[in-house]
Amino acid sequence: MEVVILKDAREVGRAAAGVFAALLRRKPDAVLGLATGSSPLPVYDELARLHVEEGLDFSQASGFALDEYVGLPADHPEAYGSVIRRDFASRVNIGPASVHTPDGTAADLEGACAAYEEAIAAAGGVDLQILGIGTDGHIGFNEPGSSLASRTRIKTLTEQTRRDNARFFSSIDEVPHHVVTQGVGTIMEARHVVLVATGAGKADAIHGLVEGPVTAMCVGSVLQFHPHTTVLIDEAAASSL
Ligand code: GLP
Repeated sequence: MEVVILKDAREVGRAAAGVFAALLRRKPDAVLGLATGSSPLPVYDELARLHVEEGLDFSQASGFALDEYVGLPADHPEAYGSVIRRDFASRVNIGPASVHTPDGTAADLEGACAAYEEAIAAAGGVDLQILGIGTDGHIGFNEPGSSLASRTRIKTLTEQTRRDNARFFSSIDEVPHHVVTQGVGTIMEARHVVLVATGAGKADAIHGLVEGPVTAMCVGSVLQFHPHTTVLIDEAAASSL
């Protein structure tokens, strides 16, 4: 695991976007692993800038989001399909049909989870996964206690995560209780993982991820076993290292 401490969120975004740009120039049909949350926003801002100003080409690339709320209509502004479109896909020239999110509205959710795994495999697996981390150490929506070998499945959010995410909704009552998320085992198969985190609120999670024991109680710590993970953090997020 490579850990790089940078000045602020903008620098973190630039560094992460640079990894994406280098991959796309080498492999234009790369499979990108996409994440929601506020942490990847500076990455997407920089990718949009590189697309507009330097012609970074996404036309042959495809993308798979990590997770989705269960029960939010696909056109709900906080459904992760909408978020990924708004924050990333609509700002570059990636084909809209090439960007996938798990189906949180399917009548057969387990079938939808299996289909998502198959779609990732059929695309050849994820080349580069951008990841944030929850304050409780979760990656995707793999909350503490998740099996470290898990595959895409339905999970129940902890109250802490619902509270953390309530800022995107008008009240906590609107935050769904259930989600579909790529499993920890699924995420671990990405060939390169770039995890971004900024701010003092992430310091404990980053400590657990980088220096803690590998434990399902801080799911991100499993990345210590990943062959190619780059952790890009600002000084505040690094303050407990
Ligand atoms: C959500 C997402 C995660 C993300 C986390 C942290 O729970 N499912 O993928 O890492 O939020 O979000 P933020 O970057 O806004 O702190």
